[in-house]
Amino acid sequence: MTPRAFLADLRQEVLHHPAVGHSLIGRMTMDPRCRQDFRIFSGQHYPLVGTFTRYLELLLLSAPSSRDKLWLAKVLVDEYGERSDGRDHADHYRDFMRAAGWPEGAWDDEPLHPAVTGFIEDHLHLCAHGGFLEGLGAVGPGHEWAIPTMFAGFIGGLRQAGFAEPEILYFTMHTEQDQDHGAWLEEALMTLAVDAESQARIAAGCRASLAARERLWWGVADRINADRMATLLPGIGGGTSTAGWETLRGFRARIRGLPAPAAA
Ligand SMILES: [Fe+2]
Ligand SMILES: [Fe+2]
Repeated sequence: MTPRAFLADLRQEVLHHPAVGHSLIGRMTMDPRCRQDFRIFSGQHYPLVGTFTRYLELLLLSAPSSRDKLWLAKVLVDEYGERSDGRDHADHYRDFMRAAGWPEGAWDDEPLHPAVTGFIEDHLHLCAHGGFLEGLGAVGPGHEWAIPTMFAGFIGGLRQAGFAEPEILYFTMHTEQDQDHGAWLEEALMTLAVDAESQARIAAGCRASLAARERLWWGVADRINADRMATLLPGIGGGTSTAGWETLRGFRARIRGLPAPAAA
């Protein structure tokens, strides 16, 4: 299969994956969400937002050529804030969290669903030790191709919940920037997806990322439903027990030195 045909097929696979069309997203406007739902959502989603650059930084270390590093670096420059007022994307996300009702810094003490910490650990491992092509499949097709479609769904729910446009800038700017990021990483993939083995490795990384994403959305949906249950039926334990879950602060400390970059 030519690189172009392989990437066109992979793009269709991404857009039709259950992670991208998850019911949490697909039912956003049918099943209206309120600010409190998005407060719960953001407490689980924020750790991913703050870790994405690290996946790319790890991949830079194993990129086979300067040309491949260049495409990754272009994406990183945007993630650090080049096209968003010099503020990195996690900084923008905190504006959204404040608008959703979070007191400053309280997000650090939020217990994280195992699907959230699992998503990050899987991606750190993949980008450090899983092979460059697998990692690129995860951050390119697995993230940058999927995000504009997923975020379009979230934006519908956010507007319906009454968020003003400046409060959801993180989401609206990604539906535009990630079109570019996806195209830039596709440029890199065009020169790398040259044979069946390379294509299989890229697709494997993409599928691993999307499988983790599907688990993530189920975990987030569980947190939102548990919070609603706690409000409606005080004293009734709804959803998965949070006993033993790590807080973001604890998780961040645990993964600070992990994983060690692959030896040169
Ligand atoms: Fe971003
Ligand atoms: Fe991006």
